[in-house]
Amino acid sequence: IRVGILFGGQSTEHEISILSARNVLAALDRTRFEPLLIGIDKAGRWLLQDEQKLLACAADPRRVALGAGRPLDMPATLASADPDSNLSHRIDVIFPVLHGTFGEDGALQGLLEIAGIPYVGAGVLGSGIGMDKDVMKRLLRDAGIPVANFRTVRRPQFDADPRRVCEELATLGFPMFTKPANAGSSVGIRKVAQPTALAEAIRFAFEFDTKVIVEAAVSAREIELAVLGGNPATVTVAGEIVVDHPDGFYSYDAKYVDEHGARLDLPARISPDQQWEAQALALRTFEVLECDGMARVDLFLTSDGKLLVNEINTLPGFTAVSMYPKLWSLSGVPPTELITRLIELALQ
Ligand code: DAL
Ligand code: MG
Repeated sequence: IRVGILFGGQSTEHEISILSARNVLAALDRTRFEPLLIGIDKAGRWLLQDEQKLLACAADPRRVALGAGRPLDMPATLASADPDSNLSHRIDVIFPVLHGTFGEDGALQGLLEIAGIPYVGAGVLGSGIGMDKDVMKRLLRDAGIPVANFRTVRRPQFDADPRRVCEELATLGFPMFTKPANAGSSVGIRKVAQPTALAEAIRFAFEFDTKVIVEAAVSAREIELAVLGGNPATVTVAGEIVVDHPDGFYSYDAKYVDEHGARLDLPARISPDQQWEAQALALRTFEVLECDGMARVDLFLTSDGKLLVNEINTLPGFTAVSMYPKLWSLSGVPPTELITRLIELALQ
């Protein structure tokens, strides 16, 4: 079975995607699957990539880049999924190891639907919902799933009267988080401690998107669970992220750059009741947000013992420090079996 592994991509998580793809490739069961490595550069070009080079890449996002590879004509590559075609790049299934815009947001999924190529992970709708923190949180709230208080700010509204917008947002209470609605790996996020820093933090988030969400920071522990689709979907035990970083939250640097920025507790040190409740909440979130294939659900456990949903990630990281594969290993599904199951789900 020829598996097209797509990685890199045009989003701000380009480098993280390369780290994830390296681990997906390393875990691929070569007795069943043959990889075709397609790197997407920041300009959107599809380039055939070398396996050994990807396997040997650094673990630091500041030191990874795509290799110069033979350019592929994207439509021709997809069209050659037709087994009668004599093109050499026949692809049976695509594993989009892409995070963020044009990878995780439904756009690529739509292209693959139209081309008739099975792919790993959520479909067009689930991907789109999961990428947009504003739509995601509105749907969760509508389903009665607890989320932190938040507001959405659009660019023209903010630009018209930044002061008034900030005054209204201040009613959420400080500290608060400002986040681009469509981004990942904490890119563009700031933790804002006081009113004087709010406008600048919102402007910074607008560098990444035209829509920003502003959210009350809850004093809470960060709990994550991994869901695997299927009938029924299954969920791992919960893990916890314990952040120890000057940014004061699980920022890009705390995740990927500074080696001791965060510690993962596997499993999370929470009571059996809380484990059970977290699992039920993760499965319900997966269902409410129309997901398939896989997702990592990120929760907050507040100091008074309540669980809130922070967000879902439909193409969660597979880097060396990423929770999704670690949680499945802990729950008895090692990486090679996990990747095989994901591909099998796509082919069903
Ligand atoms: N967006 C990153 C890759 C994650 O959710 O793991
Ligand atoms: Mg995310």
